[in-house]
Amino acid sequence: MSAHVYTGPERVFSGVQPTGALHLGNYLGALKKFVALQETHDCIFCVVDLHAITMPQDPKTLSQNTRKITAAFLAAGLDPKKAVIFVQSAVRAHSELAWIFNCSARMGWLERMTQFKDKAGKDKERASVGLFAYPVLQAADILAYKATHVPVGEDQKQHLELSRDIAERFNRDYDAPGFFPLPEPLIKGPGARVMSLKDGTKKMSKSDPSDLSRINLEDDADTIARKIKKARTDPEPLPDNMDALKGRDGAANLVGIYAALAGISDQAVLDEYAGQGFGAFKPKLAELTVNAITPIGQDLARVNADPAQIDLVLKDGAMRASAIAEPIMEEVRRIIGFWGA
Ligand code: TYM
Repeated sequence: MSAHVYTGPERVFSGVQPTGALHLGNYLGALKKFVALQETHDCIFCVVDLHAITMPQDPKTLSQNTRKITAAFLAAGLDPKKAVIFVQSAVRAHSELAWIFNCSARMGWLERMTQFKDKAGKDKERASVGLFAYPVLQAADILAYKATHVPVGEDQKQHLELSRDIAERFNRDYDAPGFFPLPEPLIKGPGARVMSLKDGTKKMSKSDPSDLSRINLEDDADTIARKIKKARTDPEPLPDNMDALKGRDGAANLVGIYAALAGISDQAVLDEYAGQGFGAFKPKLAELTVNAITPIGQDLARVNADPAQIDLVLKDGAMRASAIAEPIMEEVRRIIGFWGA
């Protein structure tokens, strides 16, 4: 008798889109966690180019961006000996399982996805089917490896819930209890939602037209210090508890960034800085940010200078990823009843 809950090994999977330079939000919400997890878990990290084409992309820029994100993975400290690092389109299982999951996911589930509503804007009829089905492909990414844990920022929470629904539905529809795990998001902690430096109510994003809204991993020390100095805050001093920061979004964001970079709680930051104004706090935050980010930027330049080495990492990663996914896909085909499986 098969188990009703998944009893297989733990595995970590996460992905990053090759749609532009990475910023502090990507680093604190995702990359920093990836680097820690590779020490303790079996990890797979993917540059998701199939997701990128849900919005128009220039073919040349897409392949360059794919290498750039891989370089950022390596510069941030991912080690291809410890984790599998590869590109989504190089492993066919993602597309195949996404199709299969399209037949398990329900229209109503996808219609509730806030990211689709944001990206499609007012003219939903003109959005691509791919943009609508985006979260189904994300479920396929995770489950093609039977991954159990997914480190992401807060903005991916709803997509992760959908992945769990899809896994559960597949297991039930095909009478295969416990076949797919219900993946757990790893989101908690400061840094899960880094906001724009210009507007503390909006998340820090690659697509914000203002470069002053974000700190890029490639920014030099002066640029980082200038952006933090210009970050929108308020004239009040920092309070001694987080509740008192309600409604002060810009201020709360800087406290959260400090906490995430220092590896302490928001409250611990306030314990140190209560009563002080931003004139005193911002230079300290700038120093902390420069110390964390500029070494990555410098290493990024070194890694980017050797594209052949990046390609080797990706080729090896694709082989290792396929070797994990293929036996799982063989079982999936057999469970569904495809000919020859
Ligand atoms: P993407 O490429 O938009 O972002 C990559 C990672 O960075 C996190 N992130 C943030 N975290 C904190 N604050 C922010 N302001 C911020 N902005 C971005 C994201 O949460 C993400 O973890 N759909 C995903 C990619 C994906 C994926 C997957 C993730 C595809 N398949 C499977 C996990 C598992 C995305 O667009 O991430």
